[in-house]
Amino acid sequence: MHDVLYVNGGNPLNGEITVRGAKNFVSKAMVAALLGDTPSELRNVPVIRDVGVVTGLLELHGVIVTADPATGVLHMDPRNVEVAHVADIDAHAGASRIPILFCGPLLHRLGEAFIPDLGGCHIGDRPINYHLDILRQFGAEVDKREQGIHIRAPRGLRGTKVALPYPSVGATEQLLLTAVRAEGLTELSNAAIEPEILDLINVLQKMGAIISVDTDRVIRIEGVPRLEGYRHTALSDRIEAASWASAALATGGDITVKGATQPEMTTFLNTFRKVGGAFEVLDDGIRFYHPGADLRSIVLETDVHPGFMTDWQQPLVVALTQATGLSIVHETVYENRFGFTEALRGMGATIQVYRECLGGHPCRFGQRNFYHSAVVSGPTPLYAAEIEVPDLRGGFSHLIAALTAKGTSQVRGIRLIDRGYEHFMDKLGALGAEFSRD
Ligand code: EPU
Repeated sequence: MHDVLYVNGGNPLNGEITVRGAKNFVSKAMVAALLGDTPSELRNVPVIRDVGVVTGLLELHGVIVTADPATGVLHMDPRNVEVAHVADIDAHAGASRIPILFCGPLLHRLGEAFIPDLGGCHIGDRPINYHLDILRQFGAEVDKREQGIHIRAPRGLRGTKVALPYPSVGATEQLLLTAVRAEGLTELSNAAIEPEILDLINVLQKMGAIISVDTDRVIRIEGVPRLEGYRHTALSDRIEAASWASAALATGGDITVKGATQPEMTTFLNTFRKVGGAFEVLDDGIRFYHPGADLRSIVLETDVHPGFMTDWQQPLVVALTQATGLSIVHETVYENRFGFTEALRGMGATIQVYRECLGGHPCRFGQRNFYHSAVVSGPTPLYAAEIEVPDLRGGFSHLIAALTAKGTSQVRGIRLIDRGYEHFMDKLGALGAEFSRD
């Protein structure tokens, strides 16, 4: 199995790469195509494994998907949507968390849906209670069985009023994808308002939906009986852009990320600057570089938008190992997102994790035995090591650590990184990284 990368680190990454559409938007826009009576076209689609998984699920349900990986154009024709075989859907179990978002569209199109056991990164419990509660509130019947969850809506779906306990991205998307064709009005309070969600709303509006977003995290939807297909260019992947920015900082390099956009990255750019990184916003991307002076320690809390994204945290922590002083990182979105620091400690980093909320604001994980705060003491040289990739973002962080460390590291399980980083090995090559694949 060619799943190991030998990385010869210790050299700055310099050069230019391009990021395309956001993984966490593209997959949802693909599901939205199911709601249309006519074909849809999505542009700026990256070649990543999650897109492959959603393509497979759409095809199982009778959608004809044609993709041109070079131009990033995806056509989806949902005119003959049909019920898929449970065993076929089940074969996708463990591959992604996207299947749960098929519920609303499939209930509208077919009156039933089957959801296999969900996969995704192991960064916490990742329950789906909000999703199921929302579907029940719309009038769906949820039947949990051994191999998965069967959902039916024999009397159709009716608009409802939902207040989320936490502004969950997935639950907000679930509600949107269900409410647009439900009968009557739906109101969601405490909604997530990530840029990827707002772009999904753009797509749904192009399809004929009526959706308003208020300043107080309240989203209102007037259901419509039918939707058309859409043509849309996906917003760019701000998580991938920030990952390469962190790689530039940790390795003392200079990376121009074509396709990166400033408005969706404001909070990251502020933090990047506070740590001592420099950036230049260009017409077609952002240049991120280490200006030469010592990096500075910071206090950081992850949060929902417009806060500092949880997915930016793991790559940046590697750069913080090279900053002078004590950095404090408080993870408030997932209860278990510091597992990746163990490998960094093995490479020479000084990182302690704590159960307490260390960032300044108590979060819902305080007093609950979760190691969700970290103190990083730097700068510490990193040494080559044998590492096993734990999850998508943690894996990319390990890769950055291996590129920062002097000597040859063995990084195992790199296939996980393909889930969300398009052609990452080609990009590493373009940035002058020394590595070979086993
Ligand atoms: N939560 C519940 N119950 C639910 C749903 C969520 O308790 O039914 C909790 C989660 O356990 C978590 C919090 O709510 O503690 C936030 O989860 P959220 O629903 O917002 O996350 P998600 O929709 O499952 C998406 C991205 C993640 C990203 C988060 C936060 C996709 C496919 N995944 O996950 O991306 O970290 O939003 O921005 O869009 C990644 O790309 O590597 C990744 C993990």
